[in-house]
Amino acid sequence: MRVGIVGATGAVGKELLNVLEKRNFPVSELRLYASPRSAGRSMFFRGQELTVEALPETPLPVDVVLASAGGSISKQYAPIWATQSVVIDNSSAFRYEPDVPLIVPEINAHAIRGHKNIIANPNCTTAILLMALFPLHKAFRAKRVIVSTYQSASGAGANGMEELLKGTKEFLAGHAIEHKTFVHPLPFNVIPHIDAFQENGYTKEEMKVLWETQKIMEDSQIRVSCTAVRVPTLRVHSEAVTVEFEQPVSPDAAREVLNTAPGVDLVDDPTTRRYPMPLTATGKFNVEVGRIRKSLVFDNGLDFFVAGDQLLKGAALNAVQIAELLQNPVAI
Ligand code: A2P
Repeated sequence: MRVGIVGATGAVGKELLNVLEKRNFPVSELRLYASPRSAGRSMFFRGQELTVEALPETPLPVDVVLASAGGSISKQYAPIWATQSVVIDNSSAFRYEPDVPLIVPEINAHAIRGHKNIIANPNCTTAILLMALFPLHKAFRAKRVIVSTYQSASGAGANGMEELLKGTKEFLAGHAIEHKTFVHPLPFNVIPHIDAFQENGYTKEEMKVLWETQKIMEDSQIRVSCTAVRVPTLRVHSEAVTVEFEQPVSPDAAREVLNTAPGVDLVDDPTTRRYPMPLTATGKFNVEVGRIRKSLVFDNGLDFFVAGDQLLKGAALNAVQIAELLQNPVAI
């Protein structure tokens, strides 16, 4: 396939190159696009030097566009790209449109059928949550979910990572911390505010977890309440999850389900101090799940903790997996 990456120089864009290479995706030609600021810059793919191009306003000469340059670029250009290519869009611009499939391949690969050349990649927090929640939902039927997130700086892109590193140095040197990407200084802080506040008091990031869970799991009844919090880690989103199920459930039964769930690593051995953490989940394709215990609040309830590299399963990996579905329609 001829592949184009829009936003190739960004935090997710760089991972897209890395994932295409690691998964040995059949790329016949790779074109890299970014803003005019990056035009002419070199990047490497399979040992070959490629030159970044300024994004043109025309359709792109590729079969698949992997777009990760933000919602406004996608909104403006995806309909143009879609005239000649299949667009896998990492932004939230099209996720809630009824005729745009929103895909996590381990969960709803079948929903890609009949796509109209735009396929949406989910919000990173949702994708990571659902890797653990969906297999449990299939087995025990989840009714209500309460999630608190610990989201890393890279969720806000390369600028977010840079601001955290620079701000940490500023703080340690006793200087005032400058911040632009985050609403408040992030080093040595946590910020319960990601994306815009909505009328109901939730933020848009929190509402995305509800909307996208219902769409991907094809269950409009499931209720999800999320508190999304930015924490000063560089990579990996972690989430503390409480689920009430319709059917009886036990931690052992949940472990059995998660042990064979695709894309999940069960990391759940408190005696050896093994549980999901950004430190261990960084750079991993699989999402770690652990701290599984019976809820003290809900009768058929479980509490657990997940940690997943949101630049990978929450973004680049999931996008490449969607492209792999296009490669191999028989598998859908
Ligand atoms: P650039 O590096 O030239 O600014 P991140 O999510 O890490 O912030 O990355 C955003 C990506 O989107 C970067 O590759 C960035 O390119 C790209 N981008 C930003 N604005 C535009 C634009 N107007 N046209 C094309 N690409 C853009």
